[in-house]
Amino acid sequence: MATEIDHPYEFRTFPAAAPDGRADEATRNWLAAEARGFHESRMTAEAIDLAAAVIAADGRRLTGVYTTSAPESALAPEVPVATFAAYEHTLNVGGAELLPAHLIAGVTVRPTHRRRGLLRRMMTDDLTAAHAAGHALAALTVSEATIYRRFGFGTAYSVDSITVPAGHRFRLTVPTTGRCELIDAHELVSIAPRVFSAFHARTPGSVDRQQAYWRRSAGLAGPNGGADDTVRAIVHYSEDGAIDGYAAYRVHEGERTTELEVIDLVAATDGAYLGLWELLGSMDLVDTVRFDAAPADDPLRWALADWRAVRTTSRSDRLWIRLLDVVAAFEARGYLPGAEGEVVIEVADDLGFATGRYRIRVAGGRAHVTDGEAAAPDLELEAWVLGSLYLGAVDARTLASAGRIVERTPGAVGRLAGLLTPVRPVYGVTHF
Ligand SMILES: CC(C)(COP(=O)(O)OP(=O)(O)OC[C@H]1O[C@@H](n2cnc3c(N)ncnc32)[C@H](O)[C@@H]1OP(=O)(O)O)[C@@H](O)C(=O)NCCC(=O)NCCS
Repeated sequence: MATEIDHPYEFRTFPAAAPDGRADEATRNWLAAEARGFHESRMTAEAIDLAAAVIAADGRRLTGVYTTSAPESALAPEVPVATFAAYEHTLNVGGAELLPAHLIAGVTVRPTHRRRGLLRRMMTDDLTAAHAAGHALAALTVSEATIYRRFGFGTAYSVDSITVPAGHRFRLTVPTTGRCELIDAHELVSIAPRVFSAFHARTPGSVDRQQAYWRRSAGLAGPNGGADDTVRAIVHYSEDGAIDGYAAYRVHEGERTTELEVIDLVAATDGAYLGLWELLGSMDLVDTVRFDAAPADDPLRWALADWRAVRTTSRSDRLWIRLLDVVAAFEARGYLPGAEGEVVIEVADDLGFATGRYRIRVAGGRAHVTDGEAAAPDLELEAWVLGSLYLGAVDARTLASAGRIVERTPGAVGRLAGLLTPVRPVYGVTHF
């Protein structure tokens, strides 16, 4: 729980605000500190105002940690030594409704104040408030994979960086539907939110996007907030003429090879996904196409004649989940219609929110979950492991093989894996 911090710090939480498009002072100082914490370049006043307007539109609540004084020439005490942001957006958990999730972002601690417990204090205070407010789960995307398990977060799914050769090696051997067109990238400001919304409604694992995405994909968020003229865009039209997918990209001409970098690709249908790739893979004057957020099990690989054409260059954890209310979270989730059965799990949680013995009973695509179960548990696990299992992208048998689940009843791990099979492949294109 919260550690005693041996220093006169002040913790302040306030809404991100940009009245009339100008960042207020607290938001301005917070954004400058966050950029410094991630080693980003100094932001211009215009870039700060734009960023403030965008995070204010997301409804972010900012926490800053302040010192009461600063020595000569050091950063002023109004600039926080630590930053933390939280807001609410929906997560698709494969159920009938999108689940409101407590999202955490912008976590930094100034190097001269690190390892004194500031992150632990901000995180425990924030999760305690989110739990009290009735959130079923919290989620984040991370800079390092070693920080957040201790707070009960587990990796729920990963995405791949891939490269694909353009030209003759790119040959789809399935028919595609609809057609693609090049558009003015700026058009994506209005098109992208609509397409994303359809993708989000259909895809377990998807987190609703923050406002910053639309300007970035549309080439309107270049250095210092101006236009980025390198961004190009294509859209896909379904058979009935509706736009159901888009890709934003730029082309890097190297000395020997030319690479098309996919900046953002969102498809609301399988047809749009393959249709967009068909055009990306057939652009003249391009040698390879790179995409850093491809599904870990990419349908593209199976649609091409050459399975090896899609080369995974790296895999990154994408969404980390932390359950705050195990009963609410598992009852909100979707289950395959054929998944039937039950399992009793015992969860150990250092922060206490998920601690308990739960019976998860699944039938007819829904779960009924009870806490305070008297029967002996079939399985024992830590809270972060449950976060990894929750969406169904990580198989319980893999986590048992890794020594992360203790199986008290033979066969229970396989039973849990079957019950948690996701309704559709888990994937997401939101980083926050
Ligand atoms: C990561 C960061 C926020 C940690 O802040 P901090 O105030 O030093 O962390 P705390 O002192 O509260 O440490 C809390 C616990 O996490 C551990 N921890 C902190 N940073 C860690 C790291 N980078 N890797 C592994 N463990 C880490 C501490 O050892 C401590 O462990 P314990 O309490 O179990 O003994 C800070 O180092 C930072 O700003 N890094 C650069 C920006 C960044 O990566 N932010 C995270 C974005 S997702």
